[in-house]
Amino acid sequence: MSIIEKALNKAKDEGQKLNNASDFYNETGESTDTKNNSPDNAPVITVSAKQEQRPVNKDIVVLDWPRLTSLGFINPEDSNTQDIEEYRNIKRPLVSNAFGKGSEGITRANLILVTSSVPGEGKTFTAINLALSIANELDKQVLLIDADVARPSVSKALGLRSEPGLIDYLESRDITFSDIAIKTSQPGLQVIPAGKSHKHSTELLSSNKMALLVDELSYRYPDRIVIFDSPPLLAATQAEILAKFVGQVVLVIEAEKTLQNVVMESVEKLAACDVVLAVFNKTKRNMEADYYGYGYGYGHYANK
Ligand SMILES: Nc1ncnc2c1ncn2[C@@H]1O[C@H](COP(=O)(O)OP(=O)(O)O)[C@@H](O)[C@H]1O
Ligand SMILES: [Mg+2]
Repeated sequence: MSIIEKALNKAKDEGQKLNNASDFYNETGESTDTKNNSPDNAPVITVSAKQEQRPVNKDIVVLDWPRLTSLGFINPEDSNTQDIEEYRNIKRPLVSNAFGKGSEGITRANLILVTSSVPGEGKTFTAINLALSIANELDKQVLLIDADVARPSVSKALGLRSEPGLIDYLESRDITFSDIAIKTSQPGLQVIPAGKSHKHSTELLSSNKMALLVDELSYRYPDRIVIFDSPPLLAATQAEILAKFVGQVVLVIEAEKTLQNVVMESVEKLAACDVVLAVFNKTKRNMEADYYGYGYGYGHYANK
């Protein structure tokens, strides 16, 4: 039985049905590191529900914190809110794998793909919050890439321009990396939008140029975390293609909604990945189990 299967069974035991529910809840996980990643010590991470609002596109790079906060994104200026604590717990094993002893044996450990089985589980929400959380560490640089090129939403959420972006870079010889990277007012955070819509986007994502880009990001900038906001795994092949490029995968699972067999199908598609961290998103907070800002539930962390 895989670690994810054990995690899922544990969720069932604890009454966390992976069936229909409509509320937004939390992800859960305990802190962990690479020395402490057995199923029994799996992370338990929580992310609380936020109101949804439509963002506004802007060509400037100054982040509008009141707006972002209203959308549910963490404000790194705040300290010790529950949300901040939740994303600290999610990022800890990822950062440890990228830069710590855990990085040994993981190819491209600083590249992280945030994906899920189906749309709407919280990939973009998780990818942005993780990026903000990591960028807030003094010495950390984060590059957030919108690789959900069919349904891009990072730029819209953050209020940044949407073109040129990844697809334009992959398609054109004239567009350079610095043409597509957007520096933001959050120190340490740069964003690459998805770019224009393209009928051959799948081929572009699996092209040599993409392979060269990820190599460059991994080896030339090993001090930087690169987070890819991915398409869903079960909708098309793009997420699987992207998963082959990265050292770590965050599998977002919408708690009480995504069916277990659907999650298992995704897990199988990620079988070749070195590290998979599962995050239960939108989990219902258990107030009794709540302690120092942690909700109750769990994710998993596996180092194969
Ligand atoms: N933990 C959460 N709490 C509240 N709302 C959330 C949470 N995670 C995601 N959402 C909301 O759910 C919706 C879908 O999330 P999104 O990240 O866009 O999904 P995906 O990228 O997987 O399609 C968005 O409106 C988002 O704001
Ligand atoms: Mg998305």
